[in-house]
Amino acid sequence: MVRKRPQINTCLIDMIKTFQSSLIFLGLLAASFPLAAEDDSRIAVEMPAMMRAHTLANMRDHLLALHEIQASLAEGKYDMAAETSEKRLGMSSLDAHGASHIAGFMPKAMQDVGTAMHKAASRFAVVAQEAAVTKDLPRALGALSEVSASCVACHAGFRLK
Ligand code: HEC
Repeated sequence: MVRKRPQINTCLIDMIKTFQSSLIFLGLLAASFPLAAEDDSRIAVEMPAMMRAHTLANMRDHLLALHEIQASLAEGKYDMAAETSEKRLGMSSLDAHGASHIAGFMPKAMQDVGTAMHKAASRFAVVAQEAAVTKDLPRALGALSEVSASCVACHAGFRLK
């Protein structure tokens, strides 16, 4: 015989479940805070407000470019992935970004990671062009991960004031 659970218990279980998921949520939230606040050992880089706004706008375009590259790869459009990378992230993007002007505000180590990113993006562009012939997607993705590795490296070390 199946014992029917009294109504009150069901209600309590629901409450506990809700409580549990909000605890998990709060836990995740709390876990992410120390990184953002007290334990933030990133070097704070000061730049004039307009430069800062310009840099962050560039950053958002970097992320968009990365997204577009991945979408192109997913469609097998290797040439398009190559072009996006070279123009928006690679060595050819430097002038469009006013990079030399902004670089003057960056510590040397930060400039170096920036340069590494531009070089990795240009290298990816070449690998992607080769992949248009070889269809070697894993190799192209590997080269792309070297680009995102430099995004990660700079973000781990630096922030804007
Ligand atoms: C040379 C250093 C450097 C590199 C390389 C770099 N970033 Fe950033 N990025 C920064 C800094 C500094 C900030 C500001 C972070 C802060 O103040 O907390 C930032 C912020 C951002 C933001 C937030 C923008 C906003 O509006 O707040 C995005 C998105 C971003 N970067 C994407 C990328 C992507 C994608 C790449 C790689 C393709 C990349 N970045 C490479 C230094 C870098």
